[in-house]
Amino acid sequence: MKTLVTGAAGFVGSHLVERLLADGATVTGVDAMTGYYEPAVKRRNVAGLLDDPGFRMVEGDLNTLALPPLLAEADVVYHLAGQPGVRSSWGTEFAVYLDDNVRATQRLLEAAREQAIDRFVLASSSSIYGDAERFPTSETETPRPISPYGVTKLAAEHLCYLYWRAFEVPTVSLRYFTIFGPRQRPDMAFHRFITAALRDETITIYGDGQQSRDFTYVDDCVAATIAAGSQGRPGAAYNVAGGTQATVLDVVERLEGLLKRRPRVEHRPAVSGDARKTRAETSAARKDLSYRPSISLVEGLKRQLEEHRSRDTGAAG
Ligand code: NAD
Ligand code: UGA
Repeated sequence: MKTLVTGAAGFVGSHLVERLLADGATVTGVDAMTGYYEPAVKRRNVAGLLDDPGFRMVEGDLNTLALPPLLAEADVVYHLAGQPGVRSSWGTEFAVYLDDNVRATQRLLEAAREQAIDRFVLASSSSIYGDAERFPTSETETPRPISPYGVTKLAAEHLCYLYWRAFEVPTVSLRYFTIFGPRQRPDMAFHRFITAALRDETITIYGDGQQSRDFTYVDDCVAATIAAGSQGRPGAAYNVAGGTQATVLDVVERLEGLLKRRPRVEHRPAVSGDARKTRAETSAARKDLSYRPSISLVEGLKRQLEEHRSRDTGAAG
């Protein structure tokens, strides 16, 4: 199978590339190495894959690259590139979210119109639900994002649906729920908590820490993504969540259990755009994608902690 992975050097993208190569697929990865976080981290994410004969890395921006030649080589497109980060999407930063989440998606879809691809899978987000009215939240819930980021992810989903309806581009949107595990983005909660705890620094909790998430381990997210590339129903959107719901305070408590000492914690004001609770209904993904999340919160947290420790001692490069 020939695949195109956008955002290939990012947290989820690099895991997806690794899995696809291990499964025998050929992968063209595209990444602009944007400055949302240190590009050196992104380069390190894919460094170990560059020697694989099945992998080609193209460094460039989806808003300017010549896309038709890249799409011509692909059976399946996994579109993970984007500007992430819920809380940082206000103000002038919104322009970047429009460029990388909306314009880039439209440009890729426009190029995909001309090609016979099997599937076009979009990395969408639980943030499209905002503060949902019903839990567990199913895909039929009316989306009401509460962050500008969520608005751009919803726009990207709508674009995918449009290109399916109008031009039969076989798009599938996956609503990822807060992903964690090794190589997690440095701005995300687990990464920040583990880094602070290992350095004996203070963990910052936004608000009272009672906000909760349906945290999803990255390998489970990747399994759903690959399944969507062959079995996803064109035009559909699926929740992808771990089924291990916890509050931010619960996460700190689990970390304390693994470290066998209590990290120092300070509370700062809650940040606009942060949902109070996410919890997904995943029966559609279970049925169509044979999705079965298999890594628990504690097991995944342990693996992420081990990765941080090995990196700190130089073992992970
Ligand atoms: P990430 O920032 O690590 O990866 C995204 C990658 O896309 C980056 O390496 C970046 O350089 C690249 N990129 C951004 N704009 C680009 C452009 N215009 N052209 C080419 N490359 C570009 O983020 P992640 O956490 O791996 O998330 C991957 C995707 O999943 C994103 O679309 C994100 O919105 C979505 N998502 C992530 C989570 C999560 O919890 N991590 C949850 C829901 C949705
Ligand atoms: C995550 C990703 O960052 C988004 O890209 C993605 O779209 C979203 O999941 C999603 O599911 O759609 P978020 O849930 O905010 O967003 O994930 P984290 O950054 O890991 O934050 C989790 C919780 O911890 C949030 O309530 C946040 O306020 C809190 N947090 C985060 C802290 O209390 N302190 C921190 O230092 C960081």
